[in-house]
Amino acid sequence: MKYTALKGVHDILPPDIFIWQKVEKAVKDIFSAYGFQELRPPIIEATEIFIRSIGETTDIVEKEMYTFTDKAGRHITLRPEGTAPAVRCYIENHLYTLPPPQKFFYYGPMFRYERPQAGRFRQFFQIGAEAFGVEDPKIDSEIISMLKLFFERLGLKNLNFEVNSIGCEKCRPDYKKALLNFFSDKINGFCPDCKRRFEQNPLRILDCKVDECIQLRQRAPRVTEFLCSNCRKHFDTFLSFLKLLNIPYVINPNMVRGLDYYTRTTFEVTCEHLGSQNAVAAGGRYDKLVEDFGGPPTPAIGFAAGMERITSLLKSSGNREIPAPAVFIATIGSPAEKEGLVIASTLRGKGIWVEVGYSGHSLKSQMRKADRLSAEYVLIIGDDEINSGKLKWKRLSDRTQGEISFNEVYNFFIAPYL
Ligand code: HAM
Repeated sequence: MKYTALKGVHDILPPDIFIWQKVEKAVKDIFSAYGFQELRPPIIEATEIFIRSIGETTDIVEKEMYTFTDKAGRHITLRPEGTAPAVRCYIENHLYTLPPPQKFFYYGPMFRYERPQAGRFRQFFQIGAEAFGVEDPKIDSEIISMLKLFFERLGLKNLNFEVNSIGCEKCRPDYKKALLNFFSDKINGFCPDCKRRFEQNPLRILDCKVDECIQLRQRAPRVTEFLCSNCRKHFDTFLSFLKLLNIPYVINPNMVRGLDYYTRTTFEVTCEHLGSQNAVAAGGRYDKLVEDFGGPPTPAIGFAAGMERITSLLKSSGNREIPAPAVFIATIGSPAEKEGLVIASTLRGKGIWVEVGYSGHSLKSQMRKADRLSAEYVLIIGDDEINSGKLKWKRLSDRTQGEISFNEVYNFFIAPYL
């Protein structure tokens, strides 16, 4: 084969696509019950917006962006995530003039030049949600409760809700100082990236995936010990709402997230069955980002869930979503074939899935095909049926059969669908 898909990207085909469609339907059902409306930002954006928001010293910006210069010399990036585009869109379209909260969800491909492995791809799909304009931790708990309901709707079990607060710009300087203090005698053991991070952004050392750095940071001070009184209160109230909503959570004080824009609440939904890439969804607050992008002060919170990880969990739990035609029309001879084509077209016009046999195939092979497709009914039409004005039907699930006149066909199949 001359051409293959690029490394780290995938075709999504039947039957897997049916699992994807099931997830997409759950998104629409559950997210709309929480008042989230769909947003469709472009896949390409100015590179600057990702550098500015995700942060210059993050893995995504340092190593993973698909960036190019277009014919006019502009710096463009295939979006590695959806929050920065959503914020750009919120400001550019003056959505801050509408009453808060403004709640949006998006769905689509993201691109990161990562080392492909199980659960980690270079093109992957995210379902994201962002809520703008509310500081009240009630909305933080509503977001987590929406995620919980969404995963429950899909039948996913054994998920852990890990939460943390990483404070605000007031708590951050003291925490940074404490980290620098703690790391100062360990710099020589760090990977080259963390040596640089120590100078530029020591918080990012907590997110490094290199084994030596993970060891060296074991006893690092925890951000929750440095929360200012407002952040402490925000976090405690958030946790009390989670209890109220019966959402089991664990506080993970080491969770700082790999993107720089976060403030206060952060969270990850993890599942052991996913192996090392175990986060199925993740997010948090980014109360300063709208302002940083030139908009009015606007607190905000959101998350993104990884489609490939969700569908892989569904597949491994034996989920199969294979749709089947309602009717297969098997015909013998040319007059019957024409009659079958007309019936098929009428039923299809009513939204009923109909498959037909094609000329040159025996009745036996058409029946085999109907079986293979798991059609609910088979209609059989030959010369005898044309002459008698009655055709045969068979229900494949229980092998019952009968006869109906041609003009009863529509009622027989269409009435149950009306
Ligand atoms: P993130 O943690 O970078 O956050 O990604 C969110 C989720 O996307 C991950 O938990 C994972 O399920 C999936 N994911 C990330 N990278 C890959 C990959 N290479 N292959 C497959 N799946 C992947 C964000 O992107 C933030 N924008 C989330 C957010 C929204 N925070 C606030 N609002």
